[in-house]
Parts: sequence; C-alpha cells; structure tokens
Amino acid sequence: MHAPHQPSEDLIQQVAGLFAGERDPWANAANLAALLFESLPDLNWAGFYFLRGGGLVVGPFQGRIACVRIALSAGVCGTAAADRRTIIVEDVHAFPGHIACDAASNSEIVVPLLAGSRLIGVLDLDSPTVGRFGPEDAALLEPIARALVAACDWHLAGIDGF
Ligand code: SME
Repeated sequence: MHAPHQPSEDLIQQVAGLFAGERDPWANAANLAALLFESLPDLNWAGFYFLRGGGLVVGPFQGRIACVRIALSAGVCGTAAADRRTIIVEDVHAFPGHIACDAASNSEIVVPLLAGSRLIGVLDLDSPTVGRFGPEDAALLEPIARALVAACDWHLAGIDGF
C-alpha cells in the first residue's frame, strides 16, 4: 500500500474533465485507461473488459497485449464480473484460475462497471508488485468506474443488454 503520486481528489477531477462533452464509450474508456496508467504508480496494465456476446472481451487498455476473451467467472476479471464486486488480489499466483496475460503481473484489482445491477464490464489494473492494491485503491477506483458508466451512452458499444 502506498500513496498515489497525486491526491485522489485531483485524479477524480481530472476524470470528470476527461469525459466533459463526450458520450462515446470507446473514447472515454481509452482516455481513462491512459490517465490511470500514467497517474497511478507501479502499474503494468490498466484497461477494460466489456460484456459482449456472453463473455468479457478486451477493450481499451495501456500495457502489453492481453487475453482477448475471458469467460464470466474465469480468472479475476470474470469473478469480479460474475459477482459484481471489486476484487483485490495480493498475489495473483495464489488466486485459483488467475489468467496470466503478462508474466510480470503479480497483483491485481478488478472493479465492475455497473449500471444499477446490470453488468457493463470491468476495469482491471495489474502491478508487478505483490500487494500493490489495497482498500484505498478500491475507494478511488469505484467512484471513477461509476463516473465512466454515467458519462457514456452504452448502446453505442455493443454491450450485452444495452
Ligand atoms: N489477470 C486477469 C486477466 C486480464 S489481464 O490481467 C490484462 C484475470 O485473471 O482475469
């Protein structure tokens, strides 16, 4: 656990500015992935998986090439999606079913994107450092995920059920 480079309030304000006047899901998700990747320390992947065709499909991200499709309930992303809750994994190698996209990843946080109880997808951050993510990251990323959900017209993105 550690303090981010900048206070959380600054980052949340930057997120609001990022989405101003734009409702396109891919545009906003792409810029949010870039903002998080450059603002939060010690990450090797930051991005999205979206619920399309009954499973999760990779969306905009920063980092190394990732697994394209993840079944609901598979890995950390699929578990967070199926359970509709944030999951923090201190050591991904100890998480049953973890999907290794980049051998450098050692810890992970996955935050579901929810419109009410409807699943849109997940926000996924990976770190090379074991134990990188804690409750303060969930407290920062959950409102950011809600801001993304509120800022986009999801029917433009081919998300199941929208
Ligand atoms: N590790 C994830 C897969 C996605 S990558 O980390 C980008 C998982 O187990 O769901």
